[in-house]
Amino acid sequence: MDVNSPRGLVIAIDGPSGAGKGTVSRAIAAHLHYRHVDTGAMYRALAWLARHRGLDLNDAAAVAELARSAEIRCDTVVEIDGHDVTREIRTPEIDRAAALVAQHPAVRDVLVARQRVCGQDGGVVMEGRDIGTVVFPDADVKFYLDASPEERARRRAADAAHAAGRSGAAVEVVARELEARDRTDSTRRASPLARAADAIYIDTTGMAVAEVVDTVLRTIDARLNASA
Ligand code: DC
Repeated sequence: MDVNSPRGLVIAIDGPSGAGKGTVSRAIAAHLHYRHVDTGAMYRALAWLARHRGLDLNDAAAVAELARSAEIRCDTVVEIDGHDVTREIRTPEIDRAAALVAQHPAVRDVLVARQRVCGQDGGVVMEGRDIGTVVFPDADVKFYLDASPEERARRRAADAAHAAGRSGAAVEVVARELEARDRTDSTRRASPLARAADAIYIDTTGMAVAEVVDTVLRTIDARLNASA
């Protein structure tokens, strides 16, 4: 493995909401000059479009059909079928709607196929719930970021990107919402949130972002040296 090889690595970062995946993945991608793919944003954008079109989110076939036909762009901005939804997808309504559409195996099949295309050439940091287990089981390096439920709720409540639609969200409200979503994500039948056996587990509770980024980069380096 060579981080500077023309192909570049596939780095998988999974974990529950509020574990710091987004901030850490973006920083790692910037450091390595890799692409950052936020797969959660794909489920969120699809949920937004399904609601916008008035679809029943429980209608798996209709939502899967929408996923097949929609054009989704996920980088610094998130666009679906020409709508810039970067901000609108970070609301409590879309939190719930995305968890709902992500439960449908037919929907996951479509988005997982797209995610594989995004990462097939390597040079990518992909974050989600099932990257190391389903999307790229052969990823070069896998991480599972976690944090205590209290810390995750605190981070979410303080996260400006998630402030839309919430007025001064109390940590307790966010904690209840997170708990409900964790339950949906971990107990659904299709690709539930799970830690891959070969993923490196990092408990980020009490760690500063820079510390987590540093740990992840050092681990990648160690892996590269071990396999060189
Ligand atoms: O990471 P996030 O909170 O933006 O994810 C939004 C929803 O999508 C959440 O309910 C989990 C789900 N998701 C998923 O099932 N698989 C992924 N690879 C990424 C997100």
